[in-house]
Amino acid sequence: MEMESLQELYVEELKDLYSAEKQIVKALPKMVKNATNPELKQAFSDHLDETEGHVQRLEKIFQMLGERAGGKKCKGMQGLIEEAKELLEKDATEEVLDAGLISKAQHVEHYEMAGYGTVRTYAQQLGLDDQANLLQQTLDEEGNANELLTHIAESSVNAEAEEGSREEEETTGRRGDRQVQRNVATEGTRSRGRGGRGGARPSRSTQARAR
Ligand SMILES: [Fe+2]
Ligand SMILES: [Fe+2]
Repeated sequence: MEMESLQELYVEELKDLYSAEKQIVKALPKMVKNATNPELKQAFSDHLDETEGHVQRLEKIFQMLGERAGGKKCKGMQGLIEEAKELLEKDATEEVLDAGLISKAQHVEHYEMAGYGTVRTYAQQLGLDDQANLLQQTLDEEGNANELLTHIAESSVNAEAEEGSREEEETTGRRGDRQVQRNVATEGTRSRGRGGRGGARPSRSTQARAR
Protein backbone atom coordinates (compact mmCIF):
# COMPACT_ATOMS: atom_id res chain seq x y z
CA MET A 1 0.00 0.00 0.00
CA GLU A 2 1.38 3.38 -0.96
CA MET A 3 1.63 5.82 1.91
CA GLU A 4 0.64 9.30 0.91
CA SER A 5 0.40 11.27 4.11
CA LEU A 6 2.01 11.91 7.46
CA GLN A 7 -1.14 10.48 9.04
CA GLU A 8 -0.56 7.14 7.31
CA LEU A 9 3.10 7.12 8.33
CA TYR A 10 2.00 7.95 11.89
CA VAL A 11 -0.30 4.92 12.01
CA GLU A 12 2.44 2.68 10.58
CA GLU A 13 4.93 3.84 13.20
CA LEU A 14 2.36 3.33 15.95
CA LYS A 15 1.80 -0.25 14.78
CA ASP A 16 5.54 -0.82 14.88
CA LEU A 17 5.68 0.48 18.45
CA TYR A 18 2.70 -1.64 19.42
CA SER A 19 4.47 -4.74 18.18
CA ALA A 20 7.66 -3.67 19.96
CA GLU A 21 5.83 -3.20 23.27
CA LYS A 22 4.09 -6.56 23.00
CA GLN A 23 7.45 -8.24 22.41
CA ILE A 24 8.92 -6.45 25.44
CA VAL A 25 6.03 -7.61 27.65
CA LYS A 26 6.95 -11.17 26.70
CA ALA A 27 10.71 -10.72 27.13
CA LEU A 28 10.92 -8.73 30.38
CA PRO A 29 9.92 -11.57 32.75
CA LYS A 30 13.10 -13.38 31.62
CA MET A 31 15.14 -10.30 32.47
CA VAL A 32 13.48 -10.11 35.91
CA LYS A 33 14.22 -13.78 36.50
CA ASN A 34 17.86 -13.62 35.42
CA ALA A 35 18.86 -10.38 37.14
CA THR A 36 20.57 -10.88 40.51
CA ASN A 37 21.11 -7.35 41.85
CA PRO A 38 17.89 -6.63 43.81
CA GLU A 39 17.66 -3.03 42.61
CA LEU A 40 17.99 -4.19 39.00
CA LYS A 41 15.45 -6.98 39.45
CA GLN A 42 13.00 -4.44 40.89
CA ALA A 43 13.67 -1.98 38.08
CA PHE A 44 12.91 -4.62 35.43
CA SER A 45 9.81 -5.73 37.30
CA ASP A 46 8.52 -2.15 37.66
CA HIS A 47 9.18 -1.45 34.00
CA LEU A 48 7.22 -4.56 33.06
CA ASP A 49 4.19 -3.01 34.77
CA GLU A 50 4.83 0.28 32.98
CA THR A 51 5.22 -1.52 29.67
CA GLU A 52 1.77 -3.07 30.08
CA GLY A 53 0.53 0.51 30.48
CA HIS A 54 2.33 1.48 27.26
CA VAL A 55 0.44 -1.24 25.39
CA GLN A 56 -2.84 0.09 26.79
CA ARG A 57 -2.02 3.68 25.86
CA LEU A 58 -1.34 2.61 22.29
CA GLU A 59 -4.60 0.64 22.19
CA LYS A 60 -6.41 3.76 23.33
CA ILE A 61 -4.77 5.77 20.54
CA PHE A 62 -5.74 3.18 17.92
CA GLN A 63 -9.30 3.43 19.20
CA MET A 64 -9.22 7.21 18.88
CA LEU A 65 -7.93 6.85 15.32
CA GLY A 66 -10.42 4.12 14.43
CA GLU A 67 -7.51 1.91 13.37
CA ARG A 68 -6.62 -1.69 14.06
CA ALA A 69 -3.71 -2.17 16.48
CA GLY A 70 -1.99 -5.25 15.07
CA GLY A 71 -0.76 -6.40 11.72
CA LYS A 72 2.90 -5.49 11.95
CA LYS A 73 6.01 -7.08 13.44
CA CYS A 74 8.73 -4.76 14.71
CA LYS A 75 11.91 -6.38 13.38
CA GLY A 76 14.18 -3.94 15.16
CA MET A 77 12.85 -4.99 18.56
CA GLN A 78 12.94 -8.63 17.51
CA GLY A 79 16.68 -8.22 16.85
CA LEU A 80 17.35 -6.46 20.15
CA ILE A 81 15.51 -9.15 22.09
CA GLU A 82 17.39 -11.83 20.17
CA GLU A 83 20.65 -10.23 21.32
CA ALA A 84 19.47 -10.28 24.93
CA LYS A 85 18.68 -13.99 24.57
CA GLU A 86 22.18 -14.61 23.22
CA LEU A 87 23.62 -12.91 26.30
CA LEU A 88 21.58 -15.17 28.58
CA GLU A 89 23.05 -18.22 26.87
CA LYS A 90 26.60 -17.12 27.66
CA ASP A 91 28.62 -18.51 30.53
CA ALA A 92 29.01 -15.44 32.72
CA THR A 93 29.05 -14.65 36.43
CA GLU A 94 25.94 -13.13 37.99
CA GLU A 95 27.63 -9.76 38.27
CA VAL A 96 28.73 -9.64 34.66
CA LEU A 97 25.36 -10.89 33.50
CA ASP A 98 23.68 -8.05 35.40
CA ALA A 99 25.92 -5.50 33.67
CA GLY A 100 25.12 -7.12 30.32
CA LEU A 101 21.38 -7.14 31.00
CA ILE A 102 21.53 -3.41 31.70
CA SER A 103 23.27 -2.89 28.38
CA LYS A 104 20.63 -4.86 26.49
CA ALA A 105 17.79 -3.09 28.29
CA GLN A 106 19.26 0.33 27.56
CA HIS A 107 19.44 -0.55 23.86
CA VAL A 108 15.72 -1.36 24.06
CA GLU A 109 14.87 1.86 25.92
CA HIS A 110 16.73 4.01 23.41
CA TYR A 111 14.96 2.27 20.54
CA GLU A 112 11.63 2.98 22.19
CA MET A 113 12.57 6.57 22.95
CA ALA A 114 13.42 7.17 19.28
CA GLY A 115 10.06 5.70 18.26
CA TYR A 116 7.95 7.59 20.81
CA GLY A 117 9.74 10.88 20.21
CA THR A 118 8.94 10.56 16.52
CA VAL A 119 5.24 9.67 16.86
CA ARG A 120 4.74 12.29 19.59
CA THR A 121 6.05 14.93 17.17
CA TYR A 122 3.89 13.58 14.30
CA ALA A 123 0.82 13.74 16.58
CA GLN A 124 1.61 17.39 17.41
CA GLN A 125 2.05 18.18 13.72
CA LEU A 126 -1.30 16.52 12.94
CA GLY A 127 -3.05 18.50 15.68
CA LEU A 128 -3.79 15.34 17.68
CA ASP A 129 -2.93 16.88 21.03
CA ASP A 130 -4.55 14.25 23.26
CA GLN A 131 -2.57 11.55 21.50
CA ALA A 132 0.63 13.60 21.67
CA ASN A 133 0.13 13.87 25.44
CA LEU A 134 -0.36 10.13 25.84
CA LEU A 135 2.75 9.44 23.78
CA GLN A 136 4.73 11.98 25.79
CA GLN A 137 3.77 10.19 29.01
CA THR A 138 5.19 6.94 27.68
CA LEU A 139 8.28 8.72 26.35
CA ASP A 140 8.89 10.15 29.83
CA GLU A 141 8.59 6.70 31.41
CA GLU A 142 11.06 5.21 28.91
CA GLY A 143 13.47 8.04 29.68
CA ASN A 144 13.13 7.52 33.43
CA ALA A 145 13.64 3.77 33.06
CA ASN A 146 16.79 4.42 31.08
CA GLU A 147 18.15 6.88 33.65
CA LEU A 148 17.46 4.45 36.46
CA LEU A 149 19.43 1.76 34.62
CA THR A 150 22.34 4.17 34.21
CA HIS A 151 22.20 4.89 37.92
CA ILE A 152 22.16 1.20 38.87
CA ALA A 153 25.08 0.48 36.51
CA GLU A 154 27.19 3.36 37.76
CA SER A 155 26.41 3.04 41.45
CA SER A 156 26.90 -0.71 41.82
CA VAL A 157 26.58 -3.21 38.99
CA ASN A 158 29.54 -2.20 36.82
CA ALA A 159 31.89 -2.09 39.78
CA GLU A 160 30.64 -5.47 40.99
CA ALA A 161 31.30 -6.94 37.55
CA GLU A 162 34.77 -5.45 37.49
CA GLU A 163 35.57 -6.67 40.98
CA GLY A 164 34.57 -10.23 40.11
CA SER A 165 37.23 -10.41 37.41
CA ARG A 166 39.92 -8.92 39.64
CA GLU A 167 39.17 -11.34 42.47
CA GLU A 168 39.55 -14.37 40.25
CA GLU A 169 42.84 -13.08 38.87
CA GLU A 170 44.12 -12.72 42.41
CA THR A 171 42.99 -16.11 43.63
CA THR A 172 43.90 -18.22 40.60
CA GLY A 173 46.75 -16.15 39.26
CA ARG A 174 45.75 -17.16 35.77
CA ARG A 175 43.31 -16.16 33.14
CA GLY A 176 41.06 -19.00 32.10
CA ASP A 177 38.36 -19.01 29.42
CA ARG A 178 35.81 -17.52 31.77
CA GLN A 179 38.24 -14.80 32.66
CA VAL A 180 38.67 -13.76 29.06
CA GLN A 181 34.92 -13.72 28.58
CA ARG A 182 34.51 -11.46 31.60
CA ASN A 183 37.05 -9.02 30.36
CA VAL A 184 35.17 -8.69 27.12
CA ALA A 185 31.92 -8.09 28.96
CA THR A 186 33.36 -5.32 31.11
CA GLU A 187 35.52 -3.73 28.47
CA GLY A 188 33.21 -0.77 28.11
CA THR A 189 33.74 0.10 31.74
CA ARG A 190 37.45 -0.60 31.67
CA SER A 191 38.28 1.31 28.55
CA ARG A 192 36.89 4.48 30.08
CA GLY A 193 39.31 3.57 32.82
CA ARG A 194 39.50 4.26 36.48
CA GLY A 195 40.02 7.91 35.64
CA GLY A 196 36.69 7.59 33.85
CA ARG A 197 34.87 7.94 37.12
CA GLY A 198 36.05 11.54 37.31
CA GLY A 199 37.22 12.45 33.85
CA ALA A 200 35.35 10.78 31.02
CA ARG A 201 32.26 10.22 33.09
CA PRO A 202 29.34 8.92 31.05
CA SER A 203 26.43 11.28 30.66
CA ARG A 204 23.44 11.07 32.95
CA SER A 205 21.08 9.99 30.21
CA THR A 206 23.03 7.02 28.99
CA GLN A 207 26.13 5.10 29.91
CA ALA A 208 26.75 4.50 26.26
CA ARG A 209 26.93 8.06 25.01
CA ALA A 210 30.27 9.11 23.61
CA ARG A 211 31.67 12.43 24.66
FE1 LIG B 1 7.57 0.89 26.45
FE1 LIG C 1 10.66 0.63 27.89
